Amino acid sequence: MKILIVGKGGREHALAWKLAQSSRVDVLYAAPGSPGIAQHATCLPDFRVDLSAGDTRIGEQIDRLCEWAVGEQIDLTVVGPEDALAAGLVDRFSAAGLRCFGPTAAAARIESDKAFSKELMERIGVPTAAHRTFNDSDAAIDYVKAQGAPIVVKASGLAAGKGAIVAHTESEAETAVREMLEDAVFGAAGDHVVIEQFMEGEEASLFAVCDGENYITLVTAQDHKAVGEGDTGPNTGGMGAYAPAPVMTVDLLQQSREQIIGPVLEELRRLGSPYRGVLYCGLMLTDQGPKVVEFNCRFGDPETQVLLPLLRSDLVDLCEASATGTIDQIEVELDETRAAVCVVAASEGYPGDYEKGRTVEGLEGLAANDVVAFHAGVARVDDRLVNAGGRVVGVTAIADDLHSAVGRAYEALETIHFDGMYYRRDIAHRALARS
Ligand code: GLY
Repeated sequence: MKILIVGKGGREHALAWKLAQSSRVDVLYAAPGSPGIAQHATCLPDFRVDLSAGDTRIGEQIDRLCEWAVGEQIDLTVVGPEDALAAGLVDRFSAAGLRCFGPTAAAARIESDKAFSKELMERIGVPTAAHRTFNDSDAAIDYVKAQGAPIVVKASGLAAGKGAIVAHTESEAETAVREMLEDAVFGAAGDHVVIEQFMEGEEASLFAVCDGENYITLVTAQDHKAVGEGDTGPNTGGMGAYAPAPVMTVDLLQQSREQIIGPVLEELRRLGSPYRGVLYCGLMLTDQGPKVVEFNCRFGDPETQVLLPLLRSDLVDLCEASATGTIDQIEVELDETRAAVCVVAASEGYPGDYEKGRTVEGLEGLAANDVVAFHAGVARVDDRLVNAGGRVVGVTAIADDLHSAVGRAYEALETIHFDGMYYRRDIAHRALARS
């Protein structure tokens, strides 16, 4: 088969790493790809489908890639990032007769339009935080004052993982509202804000691979969104993750299937937008049971870097079954006896401003058994690898138990170096404390 991966981050490197292990793959391409992905696939750096969904050039880039994929007779396209999905890549490719792993733009609204997603959940009684949506800052601030802090302010559209602010005071919430609605810090993505109740509990990430009707859940994971140790400081795309997440018991998984995934898939079908691809359920495990923090229309990053090493089955089979509506005809085998952890090394200053172009050393030597360095923001400049993003590399280690996996990941990180390299030293602390 000829397979095309869309994206360039750590998640897409993990997808390329896993797809390349399939005997069904003859040729693997990635648009635009990265130096890490180039270890497994032919990269197509001229196709910039990694633009944000609000960028008017993305449609043109999708058209160009689609034309290329038709000419190349690509059998299956696996889409990593939400922006390309929200911009209609799957719709465009499907109209051209190409098979894709991922939801249509209408189904991707479950992530790209948080007001839509919250209204959908409320309508069908899916457990989630109480909310209101606003496009007027005075009305939004009056609501914040009536509710009190802590409270959560979210840009309704896609904001590269930075659009959710947990405000600990009313004044922080007011600032977030004004920045989104008046100063347009997230552009059109912040034209509407969703303000929701703060939920107490532990978060977990649950991934359902769906085919429009049926679905399969993968092992559960937990990521660490805050930049600082002890889960402090501003939120990032994710500083590390581990799987399985022991906090997600069999009972909680069953409740999530019955009260969340099943009803949401049924409602999307009823609306005429059956969901295909991976539905990422960001859950808060509260005293009243699992509640939805958010849905994402794609795999998590860095959760994918710990999920795929624990997937025994062929990822091509899974993606194909999702794309063709045949999930109920395949068996998926998960490795439930081992644990995986990914620790992200970031550029100094991230999630704020940071310098790019610093030489990254030690990546090439890291191909030991059960340790993989997934490139996130890495570029090649001549014969050097340099940092080109906030999150630079995620080191994943797999072992018989979480404690050993954590030890191996940190040992491997010691062999990587770039100026200003920063990583959290407490990834998986909750699960380790529990065990
Ligand atoms: N790890 C969080 C996300 O992928 O959105």
